[in-house]
Amino acid sequence: MNRGEMKRREFIQKSAAGAAVTLGGPMIISAAASERSAKPAALGGTAVRSQGFPSWPQIQDNDRESMKDVLEKKGWCRLNGDYVNTFEQEYAKLTGAKECLAVANGTSALLTSLNALGVGPGDEVIVPPYTFVATINVVLLQHALPIYVDTDRETFQIDAQKIEARITDKTKCIIPVHLGGNVADLDTILAIGKKHNIPVVEDACQAHLAEWKGEKVGTLGATGCFSFQVTKNLSGGEGGAVLCDDEELMDRCYSFHSNGRERTNKYGYGYIHNGMNARMTEFQGALLLQQMTRLEEQSKTREQNADYLTKQFNEIPGITPEKMYEGTTRNAYHLYMFRYDKEKFAGLPRSKFIEALNKEGISCGSGYSPLNKQKFMEETLYSRVFLNVYGKERIDRYFAENECPENDKLCNEEAVWFYQNMMLAEREAMDQIAEAIRKIQAHAGQIAKA
Ligand SMILES: Cc1ncc(COP(=O)(O)O)c(C=O)c1O
Repeated sequence: MNRGEMKRREFIQKSAAGAAVTLGGPMIISAAASERSAKPAALGGTAVRSQGFPSWPQIQDNDRESMKDVLEKKGWCRLNGDYVNTFEQEYAKLTGAKECLAVANGTSALLTSLNALGVGPGDEVIVPPYTFVATINVVLLQHALPIYVDTDRETFQIDAQKIEARITDKTKCIIPVHLGGNVADLDTILAIGKKHNIPVVEDACQAHLAEWKGEKVGTLGATGCFSFQVTKNLSGGEGGAVLCDDEELMDRCYSFHSNGRERTNKYGYGYIHNGMNARMTEFQGALLLQQMTRLEEQSKTREQNADYLTKQFNEIPGITPEKMYEGTTRNAYHLYMFRYDKEKFAGLPRSKFIEALNKEGISCGSGYSPLNKQKFMEETLYSRVFLNVYGKERIDRYFAENECPENDKLCNEEAVWFYQNMMLAEREAMDQIAEAIRKIQAHAGQIAKA
């Protein structure tokens, strides 16, 4: 018996007992209300949740005061203020990294890392196809070739077991992404990097405070890159950071992010490298310092709610929550990801399942589509510059070599996401999410026909 039915039956039993006293009238009305709540909203029933989920980003007085302070001090750029410097020190302390460089956004954190490592035309970079497009864009911006390694559908992460087969003498970097705040199989990936002398750049843009064997992700590769874009678990509207323990590499990162200046010569007109301006503003630095005071507590809430939800989902056939590798000691749950099997839902297509869940007041989405097949890839690889560097024959072979069938299945049929703000809701909301899914499952055949 599903939970909806159980509740309804219990309710009818209780009402029936009361009916002896109330002479039947109220029982009939209550039973009708119960009928509505047991019926999915997609079929005209009552939604399980009407109040939405906690909004994001969250603002408190300390955020407002910090913004006013930067505004009035007029040191809006990091070159004449101190908030960004302080944020760098605090974020390094929080993560256990030797050094942190704050940058304008996560994309520039990745771009800075690739430049500092000297990745360029003719090079190959191992990437997952299941990520935000910025992970791939930075490789293409360096005129290097992204080499896609298929996804492990169980964890939604790059399948580390398939990386080594894609390494060639041209491979100059591996970029694992800790997707959704879950953690890629770092032991395997770091060992491959070490064996072949290839640096690993961790894309931890979605993984603030996530951990591998007790250490914060982003501190284990040559660099670790973070995003503080507004949807992220730690937000400054936009923003990013590079973590790095190698002083020389950090010197190069600093130089790149500030127009090629030497780290020791922040203001002058002398330049030692090619670079760009990817500096974080003081507004971002000040806001992040305040937002960071709430990160640990929020992360704990997300983690506890996610664990609770996973236990409930494990009891629902056809709903398979993301798994974690053994080394994952903390998942940041930027996303709560699960796989949907329509066969256990009377063939109800994923798009209709998502629609039905949204109607229950539970926001969710289907997530990414396969990056290796999107138009930008073909347009970029057949551009004049890429054809000059790699030749038409190499590019003609590229797309067949970079097929990722597991990822296609995940993207096109299975993946469903909840967003991090939902994991900040009260515990009852998790019960409602599971209840909504059970309700849909019990009526899946009817919803499919509706
Ligand atoms: C996995 C991943 N990589 C890179 C980025 C790029 O970060 P940003 O949007 O701050 O440039 C993001 C975030 O949007 C991301 O989710």
